[in-house]
Amino acid sequence: MGDIETRQDCERLVRAFYGRALDDPIIGFLFRDVAKLDLEAHVPRITSFWETILLGARSYGGGAFAPHAALHMKAPLRRAHFEQWVSLWTRTVDELFAGERAELAKAHARRVANAFYARVQTLPDPVAEPAGLVVTRHVPR
Ligand code: HEM
Ligand code: HEM
Repeated sequence: MGDIETRQDCERLVRAFYGRALDDPIIGFLFRDVAKLDLEAHVPRITSFWETILLGARSYGGGAFAPHAALHMKAPLRRAHFEQWVSLWTRTVDELFAGERAELAKAHARRVANAFYARVQTLPDPVAEPAGLVVTRHVPR
């Protein structure tokens, strides 16, 4: 088993990951039903993201967090979702590649997932109680 060497390797990894993520019982609905992910439009961008991180390509322009903030406002992203994302990614990397870049792919995904999770927690929680609504109990004395 070889390491991640080319953009084509990055794309292979990304496609294998989404093949799994879209069917996943914990996070699949976020891509399919909430984001209505257009996979063919998404694959080149996410491939560029990994090509930039792993191969130094500079093909990705940044701003990766924004779509996740938008997603969170439609369906709150919880720690368990990020944990599942990282778990599927780690398994996919390990199945296809081995080496320094494969390790970096797993480590960086964990860092980004932690950072994204911390950032969504600073956003309003779309399912939290509105601040103005106070639930009271009225019982006769
Ligand atoms: C080979 C070196 C690295 C490259 C090319 C790289 C590249 C990137 C890119 C392209 C992003 C997405 C930024 C965005 O979309 O705005 C990112 C995010 C991030 N990286 Fe790296 N990275 C590298 C090393 C590291 C290291 C060494 C760490 C930590 C020890 C790290 C931690 C993070 C974190 C926490 C984020 C998420 C930031 C956020 O949006 O909240 N990266 N990185
Ligand atoms: C609960 C976990 C996550 C979910 C549900 C999720 C879902 C999504 C969705 C729906 C999009 C927008 C797709 C589109 O319509 O174009 C997206 C974009 C993206 N995601 Fe995630 N994501 C998660 C975690 C992560 C993590 C941990 C990383 C990085 C390691 C990541 C990297 C990216 C990047 C680079 C983009 C493309 C942003 C752009 O268009 O420039 N995601 N994600």
